[in-house]
Amino acid sequence: MKFFLDTAEIDEIREMAATGLVDGVTTNPSLILKSGRDYFEVTKEICDLIDGPVSAEVAATDYDGMLREAAHIYDIADNIALKVPLTVDGLRACKHFNDQGKMVNVTLCFSSAQALLAAKAGATFISPFVGRHDDVGFDGMQLIEDIRLIYDNYQFATQILVASTRHPIHIVESARIGADVVTLPAKVLRQMFNHPLTANGLAAFVSDWEKTGQTIAK
Ligand code: E4P
Repeated sequence: MKFFLDTAEIDEIREMAATGLVDGVTTNPSLILKSGRDYFEVTKEICDLIDGPVSAEVAATDYDGMLREAAHIYDIADNIALKVPLTVDGLRACKHFNDQGKMVNVTLCFSSAQALLAAKAGATFISPFVGRHDDVGFDGMQLIEDIRLIYDNYQFATQILVASTRHPIHIVESARIGADVVTLPAKVLRQMFNHPLTANGLAAFVSDWEKTGQTIAK
């Protein structure tokens, strides 16, 4: 399973990329706003830091506008995955760029029906939002299970990119179901390292080792 970082904060991306565990990055207009950075500058910096796909979202909501913006967005770097909303115009744009062999991430997916359409439009990634689903009283992970079943039934190549993840359980459940990618905030990736028994065990080993008076690397 691939791990994408869900942020436009360069410092966070640099820090987490150093772990060697980051396979890509996803951004959206809200994350760009939060970063306080220029869209093109920050996206270029992210693309320079990360070898894998970097999702950059269109702002236009109409087909022609998306195509005009995409010309500039794809120009940023070779590893751009254009992010388009799951609308009629968004899927038209998806099909257009898939036909050109370009990566497209279809975002704001909240149903299996939408995910089926995105796969037929040739999306590279489909981004179902699990956290926002949970927020309104639906089971976000059930949606991922359904999409996995549908995509497997027809061998769709579209990768399931679980988005809007809020905690490590979303990541573990995604792995159980066999999602292809999760995008997670740096905070969630940090949380995944933590276990109190690891911390306690390590403290005991460090303390006992000191008592031996020995050194390994002299
Ligand atoms: C990423 O592709 C999505 O835009 C993001 O995961 C949405 O997350 P949120 O629901 O926490 O805003």
